[in-house]
Amino acid sequence: MESFARKLAVVTGGGTGMGRELVVQLAAAGAAVATCDVNVDALATTRELALAAGSGPITTHECNVADPEQVDRFRDEVVQEHGRDHIHLLFNNAGIGGGGNCVNDDRAVWERTFSVCWGGVYNGARAFMPLLVAAPEAVIVNTSSVNGFWASLGPETPHTAYSSAKFAVKGFTEALQVDLRVSAPHVRAVLVMPGHVGTDIVSNSAVAHGGSANDPIVKPFADYFRDHAPVSAAQAATVILDAVRVGEWRVLIGDDAGWLDERIRSDPHTVYQPGGVMLPTA
Ligand SMILES: NC(=O)c1ccc[n+]([C@@H]2O[C@H](COP(=O)([O-])OP(=O)(O)OC[C@H]3O[C@@H](n4cnc5c(N)ncnc54)[C@H](O)[C@@H]3O)[C@@H](O)[C@H]2O)c1
Repeated sequence: MESFARKLAVVTGGGTGMGRELVVQLAAAGAAVATCDVNVDALATTRELALAAGSGPITTHECNVADPEQVDRFRDEVVQEHGRDHIHLLFNNAGIGGGGNCVNDDRAVWERTFSVCWGGVYNGARAFMPLLVAAPEAVIVNTSSVNGFWASLGPETPHTAYSSAKFAVKGFTEALQVDLRVSAPHVRAVLVMPGHVGTDIVSNSAVAHGGSANDPIVKPFADYFRDHAPVSAAQAATVILDAVRVGEWRVLIGDDAGWLDERIRSDPHTVYQPGGVMLPTA
């Protein structure tokens, strides 16, 4: 898919971060975009930015991707509001952190993280697959993480819910390579594995679990995570869209992601030991 002009793209989690940048850059490239989020105020800002970058149309939809009924309703709204019976691009981007500790953390927190990060991708794929298959050419882009191949944030920092979900996203998207080739060869699946990207995911995740973005424990780390990243959300969105254009299916974002991928492949036995692997940029 060399051009996004006049294509219809669906982006989950378009309120902030990489999702917002995908919406804006797709609009600038001439696409119509439908985007959903749980944060409707952030969606309104994304729409303004996208309409300043391109002519749209840009539609916004309140939807929790963890809930299959809400995702089906989002799909029905997209069909109705854009007046099309197919879509060309689906970016399953929405995600939150949390639920690091499976031994002591509250089960509800663990399962909320898992159901947004994995359930969101699965529900999006299920809801929109018939519309992707109905297009002459289509791409489904699933955002995993370096935590889709490295289930930790370092030897002292458990990260079980997010990592389990991101491994599932990676496995699903790899399995789709063959499934789609056999069942719908005009549809491709792209797997995105970012390293550290400067977004508000830390504060958004705190809010998603009932906390506050201004919590004095959360805020300094959230600000640091956003402001001291090696890759910006806009740069990450550009990498993703360029990969879709040239037909890559396995997309690592950032030197940290490339380094981790090589390190884990070269010596998988030591990656969780004390003194094992830390993100070089974290
Ligand atoms: N930022 C990073 O360093 C990094 C690294 C690897 C992977 N990722 C992944 O990239 C994706 C985008 O994250 P980001 O960093 O741009 O974060 P972000 O918090 O800026 O953006 C995520 C968006 O998803 C929305 N969202 C959260 N839960 C939702 C739900 N249940 N339904 C609908 N929308 C929901 C949020 O409101 C937010 O607008 C996520 O899947 C994340 O796990 C991020």
